[in-house]
Amino acid sequence: MPDLEALKRQAAVRAAALVTDGMRVGLGTGSTAKYAIEELGRRLADGELKGIVGVATSEASDALARQVGIQVEPLDPRPLDLAIDGADEIDPGLNLIKGLGGALLREKLTEVQARQLVIIADHTKLVTQLGEKAPLPVEIARFGFLSTIERLRALGLGGRLRQPGAQPYLTDNGNYIFDAAIPAGTQPATLERTLKGTLGVIDTGFFLGMATRAFVAAPDGVQELSP
Ligand code: 5RP
Repeated sequence: MPDLEALKRQAAVRAAALVTDGMRVGLGTGSTAKYAIEELGRRLADGELKGIVGVATSEASDALARQVGIQVEPLDPRPLDLAIDGADEIDPGLNLIKGLGGALLREKLTEVQARQLVIIADHTKLVTQLGEKAPLPVEIARFGFLSTIERLRALGLGGRLRQPGAQPYLTDNGNYIFDAAIPAGTQPATLERTLKGTLGVIDTGFFLGMATRAFVAAPDGVQELSP
């Protein structure tokens, strides 16, 4: 059984090596992105980097980045040089499902402004068709969420409201997440358009045509992929 944590770290270190002094860097969210933030902190502490600006995609990544010595600034309209983030599924064209970590909206808002979006993952995230293994997280407004879920079900989506405990999961933006099961054969771009036109839906975990490169770690090494 390969050590997935070691693989995730290897991919993260490769991506963090792309960061150079003065860059404005989008900092992803999740267990793989965490290794990239830690590696950037290490490079700053060891003097390999003198200074970078991080734009965090979640409260958790913001806190970690500050803890490891990265200067963090809020997202503003300027482009980012690079963003580094994990993914839940990666198809052969580097289209993604993201958001199992709950940060999809801030991730998309940040990463759409990045000149390069570098995805880091272990090999278990590779799929031939999005939705093969992971649900599609859909961020929905709290107000009227049961009505929004009915609208989603009317589109033929299975799945359920994310609820790890007594209360629904709350995003950093104060919204809920519906983890949608995608019917086989679904065209992601078509479903994305439909969902973005559905009342109550704020955004989806489809990141289509956004990633420019991926480092995917397997037991026999780290593979670099491009779309
Ligand atoms: C968070 C995300 C994460 O990037 C995604 O869930 C992958 O996380 P991990 O690296 O922990 O598997 O989209 O919203």
